[in-house]
Amino acid sequence: MLSATGLARARARLRRHGQEHVLRFFEELDDDGRARLLAQIEELDLDWLDRVLAAEPPRVDPADLTPCTEVILPGGADDAAARRAGEEALRRGRVGVLVVAGGQGTRLGFEGPKGLFPIGPVSGSTLFQIHAERIVSTGRRYGVTPPLYLLTGDSGHKEACEYFKKNNYFGIPRDRVQILQQGLAPAVDFAGKLLLDAKDRLVLSPSGNGGLFLALRRHGAFDHMAALGVDALSYIQVDNPLSASTDPLFIGHHLLAQSEYSCKAIRKTAPLERVGHYALVRGRLRVVEYTEIPEALVHETTPQGTLRYLWANPGLFIWDVAFALAQSRRLDLPFHRAHKKIPYLDEQGELVSPEEPCGVKLESFAMDTLEAAHPALLLACERDAEFAPVKNAEGADSPDSARRLMQGLHRAWLRLAGIAVRDKPPVRVEISPLFALDAEEVRARWKGVRSIEQDLYLREP
Ligand code: UTP
Repeated sequence: MLSATGLARARARLRRHGQEHVLRFFEELDDDGRARLLAQIEELDLDWLDRVLAAEPPRVDPADLTPCTEVILPGGADDAAARRAGEEALRRGRVGVLVVAGGQGTRLGFEGPKGLFPIGPVSGSTLFQIHAERIVSTGRRYGVTPPLYLLTGDSGHKEACEYFKKNNYFGIPRDRVQILQQGLAPAVDFAGKLLLDAKDRLVLSPSGNGGLFLALRRHGAFDHMAALGVDALSYIQVDNPLSASTDPLFIGHHLLAQSEYSCKAIRKTAPLERVGHYALVRGRLRVVEYTEIPEALVHETTPQGTLRYLWANPGLFIWDVAFALAQSRRLDLPFHRAHKKIPYLDEQGELVSPEEPCGVKLESFAMDTLEAAHPALLLACERDAEFAPVKNAEGADSPDSARRLMQGLHRAWLRLAGIAVRDKPPVRVEISPLFALDAEEVRARWKGVRSIEQDLYLREP
């Protein structure tokens, strides 16, 4: 039996915050349903919710914006020293890899966690597998396997754990893998009222990838890093199979500059491209959403004809671990309001599947912590070699476009190694990170014929 005081306490709390309606169907529930709902209510931080809903949504004043011009271009004089420093850090085990995979992947519409999406153009390897193989290959090259911290959401956590276990963690030592479940935030309607999607269940959704800092701390990942001597954390997003999570050049630039937050930057392809822009806001480096930059500004060019707001965010960062730990203690990370079509129960208890956005999901973003970093740096990278996002089911940023980019890169590596790949009709090529992490490694390992006439998947050396 449920205690009457538990219900009375929940009711009083909800009433204080104007949210008592979530108990509307309570009398219809059996004991299990009542217990489930009360447990969810118990977990809610309603003071936090009131604060977030009362706060002005984060907004950038165009008058405060200036383009960012300090970008390290590859090929500079410091590259050799940076590469050496990065390689030394990898040999000394100073680098950990964080893969954020806690999103819902609604645009892709794939059943199950996005990390299980088979993206390999020839092999059908999953996104998880490719990221794991890169870590294993790095371990072979430098003698120390970087630890993997994988952030999952509520729905995909169990499947991700089972998948990694079934595949023996792809060869990463078990004690170097942590799969961490991130927190959830309640969804509300436009009047700020909590939504139910069943009579005994609130609508909860992942609280944005900014939840990673707290998840790392709550699950002991920072202690794990300290025990291993990891002081640089490489952040990648699960849906980019080309993320070079252990790039020695990037790691080296980050360490030599004693940066707290280092970012790779890609050139925009068009003024109105819908990407996050690197820009200065009152002199501080930030990622500013395309919606926040007035159209007139994004069209501006320099006297040389390049876009003034040129640099975009591909979601590839390296953080100083002490900086990341400090972010996990912050209470002021802004929450963004994403207007979404959220299925909800109406007053009669019928499930409504709205055609238009009807409510708000609250999300914080890891990139919003960039403003707090000092110093921070930007390293330009070649877009097509490092950025193949899998966001949509088709068209731009889809599995098709990502597979094309993967094959384009791997063909280029083979060409650089002097190997011809048949073009007409084209054959498909794919190189697993276990075979090579870059063009030089392809050249060093390739023992076969000098031309490729049929589909090829290169895996073990
Ligand atoms: P996106 O904003 O692209 O979201 O996340 P998504 O959930 O993958 O896709 P849509 O918008 O529902 O279609 C960028 C990265 O941040 C992670 C995602 O897994 C992705 O790697 N993420 C997002 C989290 O880890 N947690 C979240 O709460 C949200």
